[in-house]
Amino acid sequence: MNQPVTARAHTNIALIKYWGKSDPELIIPQNSSLSLTLEPFYTDTTVTFSNQLTRDQVSIDGQQLTVAASQRVSQLLNLIRQQANQQNFAQVISINHVPTAAGLASSASGFAALAAAASKAAGLDLDRQALSRLARRGSGSATRSVYGGFVEWQKGHGDADSQAIPLQEKIDFDIQMIVIVLDPRPKKIASRAGMARVVATSPYYPAWPVAATKDLAAMKTAILKKDLNLIGQLAEANAMKMHATTLSATPPFTYFEPETLQAIDLIQGLRATGLSCYYTMDAGPNVKVICSAKETPAILARLRQHFPADHLLVAKPGPGIAYL
Ligand code: ADP
Ligand code: DP6
Ligand code: CO
Repeated sequence: MNQPVTARAHTNIALIKYWGKSDPELIIPQNSSLSLTLEPFYTDTTVTFSNQLTRDQVSIDGQQLTVAASQRVSQLLNLIRQQANQQNFAQVISINHVPTAAGLASSASGFAALAAAASKAAGLDLDRQALSRLARRGSGSATRSVYGGFVEWQKGHGDADSQAIPLQEKIDFDIQMIVIVLDPRPKKIASRAGMARVVATSPYYPAWPVAATKDLAAMKTAILKKDLNLIGQLAEANAMKMHATTLSATPPFTYFEPETLQAIDLIQGLRATGLSCYYTMDAGPNVKVICSAKETPAILARLRQHFPADHLLVAKPGPGIAYL
């Protein structure tokens, strides 16, 4: 039995979204993306390789996964076994400090933590670029969770260079998020299936990577200028362009729920009163508000008139991967 290794990875929320793959096998995206890693949401994963096991054993939040459900985890473990010349199966024990599959990026923290813990447990000593590429094979958004703060996933040309780079691991101006948890249950259409359907069927999809590439360049400038309002405007518009592609897919679908529109309307209303707040959404109904720490109390006070206080979670920027 080898030594157990535990890693912690934080989730990240994209300000410029990753949406659509050019290579689904290697998880090469059609566009580069940019995210903010969040402090309060993370996954702790412990991996132990053992010659006593007859298959990989995976548990998430105390629930033992079936062989079918642990397929994605085993696929990443297979890559690591190949690289490390490791024959043994692994025990994986993972705890999500974030709702699983609800559009709050559990696949980002989950697969980044798995890549870090499993590669080290298998005896590999990967640098962060290599770890980012490995995490990418589990879930695209996990590519970015290797680093803290603002992170860019450069789409690259293939497996060798599709990886994240840190833009600002320690952010030097006032920006954070408020997550409005409208529905913590697993989404009906996983991110993977949603983006695949869009790429295959939406006549609007070809416009997406073009728009996202433009938005990314503008976002990098806005970050350098520490311009919260411009960052928010760009993030909001980019998220809505992404969601427009689901409505135009066949069959059409949406991640919005009625409360999502209510939250959007509320945030637009708050903005009209002079508060700097902007929304973004991922593949799920929950809304993330981009704002400053300074204005968070005022924004929270208004949001609390419409949503229960324990559904409003303040998230400061968070760090990259760490071994515990
Ligand atoms: P999310 O919005 O939470 O990222 P996705 O649809 O992208 O939702 O991903 C959900 C998938 O990620 C599920 O298959 C789930 O089993 C997997 N996942 C979530 N947490 C973990 C974890 N801690 N370890 C391994 N896989 C995980
Ligand atoms: C809307 O990384 O969850 O959150 O690569 O298939 O695992 P897979 O999908 P995933 O997709 C995330 C999509 C998104 C945007 C983003 O995080 O950039
Ligand atoms: Co995900």
